[in-house]
Amino acid sequence: MAKRVTIRFLLDAKANGERITLVTAYDYPTALACDEAGADVLLIGDSLGMVVQGQDTTLPVTLEHILYHTRMVARAAKRAMVLADMPFLSYQVSPEEAVRNAGRLLAEGGAQAVKLEGGRAVATTVRRMVDSGIPVMGHLGLTPQSVHAFGGYRVQGRTREAAAALLLDSLALEEAGAFAIVLELVPAEVAEEVSKRLRIPTIGIGSGEGCDGQAQVLPDMIGLYESGPRHARRYAEVGKAIRDAVAAYCGDVRTMAFPGPENAPSLGSESAEVLAAMRQAVGEATQNDEPDQV
Ligand code: KIV
Repeated sequence: MAKRVTIRFLLDAKANGERITLVTAYDYPTALACDEAGADVLLIGDSLGMVVQGQDTTLPVTLEHILYHTRMVARAAKRAMVLADMPFLSYQVSPEEAVRNAGRLLAEGGAQAVKLEGGRAVATTVRRMVDSGIPVMGHLGLTPQSVHAFGGYRVQGRTREAAAALLLDSLALEEAGAFAIVLELVPAEVAEEVSKRLRIPTIGIGSGEGCDGQAQVLPDMIGLYESGPRHARRYAEVGKAIRDAVAAYCGDVRTMAFPGPENAPSLGSESAEVLAAMRQAVGEATQNDEPDQV
């Protein structure tokens, strides 16, 4: 069995200039496929609110939702690190609640680490979690839980002030003990500069090739939906494959081309006796019965 991806593995990858791969996973079959395909980190992202539950934002996702999906992913992952997202309000209220909720994701969900959004504002919380033995990944740039504060899903870190703040936030997370940081929708030059200044790896999503690794939301990269974000590359057309398969199935059922004899068990040579017994059981005459005497 392949050795489990650990924090040490990710730090060594950065030190050796080897790129880290992160992909989201929300259920057992896709997690199994992603793990077998060699993804280093499987993130049970709160993006599940949008790509699995069909919500407009990630805000309605609860700790129970993340726990439910983390258990499925953890059962499938043999090599990949299982990373559970901390949903909105599961860590912002107090460091104590953050430790308790993150602890549940590890103890009950089977995650090896958690991810949360924010920089200097959450540094004390991150320190408390790390001191409690909980590995934490940060998330900066476009942090979707702040979508209403940002006024939409916009590129972050464009201005001098915003870029400088992003660097200070990154350094604060590293100092607080985070083992890696996701940089989402940050200008490539800014992400590269942050990556160079950190000892811990950066995992970019829509933030250019200068990051130490890349993250993708699985439904975006496998083409589950008709359209996806600009920063994603479509490696497959799974949505179309599903539509084509289901349309072909419906056609086959309607024309009675499915099921075929091979799709159901058969009694074979026992058939006549078993059917006769069934008819007898409900009082029907079978073919071999004598006609009733009048
Ligand atoms: O929730 C998520 O899928 C994420 C990725 C965008 C990194 O946080």
